[in-house]
Amino acid sequence: MRILVTGGAGYVGSHVVKELLETDHQVITIDNLQKGHREAVLGGEFYDCDLADYQGLKQIFSRHDIEAVIHLAADSLVGESVEDPHKYYQNNLTSGLNLLEVMLEFSVKKLVFSSTAAVYGDPQNIPIKESDPGEPTNPYGRSKLFYEKILADYHRAYELKYVSLRYFNAAGADSSGQIGEDHDPETHLIPLVLQTALGRRQKLEIYGTDYETRDGTCIRDYIHITDLARAHVLAVEALKQAKESRIYNLGSGEGYSVREVIETARKVTGREIPAVPAERRAGDPPVLIASSEKIMDELGWERRFDDLETIIATAWKWHENNPGGY
Ligand code: UFG
Repeated sequence: MRILVTGGAGYVGSHVVKELLETDHQVITIDNLQKGHREAVLGGEFYDCDLADYQGLKQIFSRHDIEAVIHLAADSLVGESVEDPHKYYQNNLTSGLNLLEVMLEFSVKKLVFSSTAAVYGDPQNIPIKESDPGEPTNPYGRSKLFYEKILADYHRAYELKYVSLRYFNAAGADSSGQIGEDHDPETHLIPLVLQTALGRRQKLEIYGTDYETRDGTCIRDYIHITDLARAHVLAVEALKQAKESRIYNLGSGEGYSVREVIETARKVTGREIPAVPAERRAGDPPVLIASSEKIMDELGWERRFDDLETIIATAWKWHENNPGGY
């Protein structure tokens, strides 16, 4: 298929583009390169374009006979979204609506959307199922949940078919070592732990050691980025035959605490990794673990990287070879 990937130069996007190219799809990537890296896009056509640029988008759609869109371009920092909600509603919703408008204009009616565990807020049940209530606790999560609801309305009114993928904690790097995770600023646990292992940071702060969990630190569900990327390929291929739209969780079904992540990283890297207790980070739920049974049953998705040590080892390979990022 000829597939447009928005946000294809980002961490998730670059891995999705690589998987699409390896499964013989044609890829057109757009990214405004505010957070993304041009070097991370390993093939296909590339456009430096913002989704707010309606005319620019129209030109790209008129130049390529696009069959489906994988929409990943978004702002995605929970803390920043609390401080600057306008940015999140503007970029994730208004610009996202621009994309939908151009898609409908060109009769492109297949979309894979990158959603998030943040749509669940503080979950009632663990593991979390897709049917559990969506009650996000911050503007980032709300922007993603609203967009899912917009997609449901567009499905009913305009027959737009979509698959929304609710990611838990994406982690690791492509095993080739060519692409990896490089955010600025970095806020995610595993890259921060590995930057500490490299000596680029003096110590890691553990945000909260008094949670009601097995060791007092937060528990998260880490899913390897290549497994996550493969789910996008399955989803876009499923849309070819699909009559229905779907929402799927994407996680491992296993939870690891912050302390367990640090301990595993010490083992993988052979480095000390100083870590000190710190205040809780506002808005962090104690435990987030996904049930991913639905995507396994319906799309035949499975994990290939199924332990934390391997996930961290792939991330370490990237960080060791690219200590300053891209
Ligand atoms: N943490 C630390 N120290 C750090 C950084 C993180 O202790 O320096 C902890 C966090 O408090 C959290 C865990 O490590 O308990 C994981 O934190 P991340 O920032 O790596 O990931 P989150 O679970 O906060 O974020 C993920 C996704 C978001 C999504 C969110 C939903 O990356 O996109 O889950 O809550 F919105």
